[in-house]
Amino acid sequence: MSHETVFILDFGAQYAQLIARRVREHHCYCEIVPASIDPARLAGAKGIILTGGPASVYAKGAPRCDRRVFDLGVPVLGICYGMQLMCHELGGKVVAAERREYGHARLDVAEEGDLFHKIPPRTQVWMSHGDSVEDPGPGFETLARTTNTPFAAVRHPERRLYGIQFHPEVTHTEKGREILGNFLLRICRLSGDWQMGSFIEETVGRIRERVGESGVVLGLSGGVDSMVVAKLCERAIAAHVHPIFVDNGLLRKGEAEDVKKTFADHFSVQLDFVDASALFLDRLRGVVDPERKRKIIGHTFIEVFKAEAKRFKDARFLAQGTLYPDVIESVAAHGGPTATIKTHHNVGGLPEELGFELLEPLRELFKDEVRTIGRALGLPERIVSRHPFPGPGLAVRVLGEVTPERLRLLQEADDRVQQEIRASGLYPSLWQAFAVLLPVQSVGVMGDERTYEHVVAVRAVTSLDAMTADVAELPYDLLKRISNRIINEVRGINRVAYDISSKPPATIEWE
Ligand code: XMP
Repeated sequence: MSHETVFILDFGAQYAQLIARRVREHHCYCEIVPASIDPARLAGAKGIILTGGPASVYAKGAPRCDRRVFDLGVPVLGICYGMQLMCHELGGKVVAAERREYGHARLDVAEEGDLFHKIPPRTQVWMSHGDSVEDPGPGFETLARTTNTPFAAVRHPERRLYGIQFHPEVTHTEKGREILGNFLLRICRLSGDWQMGSFIEETVGRIRERVGESGVVLGLSGGVDSMVVAKLCERAIAAHVHPIFVDNGLLRKGEAEDVKKTFADHFSVQLDFVDASALFLDRLRGVVDPERKRKIIGHTFIEVFKAEAKRFKDARFLAQGTLYPDVIESVAAHGGPTATIKTHHNVGGLPEELGFELLEPLRELFKDEVRTIGRALGLPERIVSRHPFPGPGLAVRVLGEVTPERLRLLQEADDRVQQEIRASGLYPSLWQAFAVLLPVQSVGVMGDERTYEHVVAVRAVTSLDAMTADVAELPYDLLKRISNRIINEVRGINRVAYDISSKPPATIEWE
């Protein structure tokens, strides 16, 4: 281990990566590992965190960790399920709570001590549990309680084991950041000197070591993630990296040209640009079902990419800009039991079908962390702060059939949205802002004429990681400007609506 490391044992928590992110915010290095990890691999760790998870410790097949994890002499913090499992394993008792506790609760801190150093005696925390610890087990003492939960925080002083029933990683827990900081800096005695900059050095080193003299192909999408991956690979192995950009014809207006230019300006390696737009549009003809669209686009992409990648004889690896939210929303991270929500991310089946070994250097990061790295790598702000864009592109924003004409209408409408949002200065504060072409027509009046034309919905959301999203409260004058410009400048559209649904229950995209 080259630096002080905290291991996060994942019991299938939706929040595992959020915990990791909070640890990194304290400038401590951490890795998420499966709960079932061999404890020998944790030797040398400075601290261990057990995540929450959806199971009950008594359920058949409930995820467990090896009991020797508690004997390593390393401080352990169990969160929610992690705490319950720790108490259960060490002679305590966990029961189904009479009342499921979900949402805010007031925590009464019994002892300021180490974990609650400088935490006020009463503070808001966020709870989400069905089971509760009834008896934490021998040697444990209570540090805090809530009305429903007498053991909301416990400590085994000799063994330096800590358990908290609430979630310190979510922002709803008022002092969550400080409590986690107390564990890391006071209890584990981490120095807190790890920087995102070290991520670059380490990742470049790791890529170089793994790849050796082989080549790496890389699918560039135009977004920040694949650009950052390209830059990391360029730093690591320069001449052996082969970035391929497949233009599927489903990009925003002017985007393909923009990618070419950015690449020419900021990279020394050559971009392999493939215009496959005709093929994609041809295959999408007559298709209206969103999942079929995704499949067709995914398969066509693989086909085109594969043929292109064959040109690079030294290529053994495929580098991808997969981020943590992609991982968590498609398959459970590290084989954990996190529930599958959607199957759409990062074009299913790409790695196996292509027969490459996979490099995913951003797999454990959130978007804003990737942006920080992009800036440190010298990529232009326009690329670094660019909103995420779905792999199947505008095909999932042209609801119904994707014809060249409907695609063009959406590109033009979306272009007005992009221009106005950027001009308003709000662009960086939004997660995404875009237009969607609806599969309906509406009646309007233009001059003295009745019109019967297309309708566009504008969607703008704020989000941390796309797992949840809020409607952006755009000022009315901005919305009206967007609407006026679209209706006046894009012939064929006579109505604009603003989407005011949050995720969940809606999703960010309409398809
Ligand atoms: P949803 O619509 O599921 O979107 O709330 C969450 C985030 O994922 C993006 N998205 C996709 N990205 N392929 C992708 O690579 C897809 O098929 C896809 N569908 C949605 C979406 O833009 C949002 O940022």
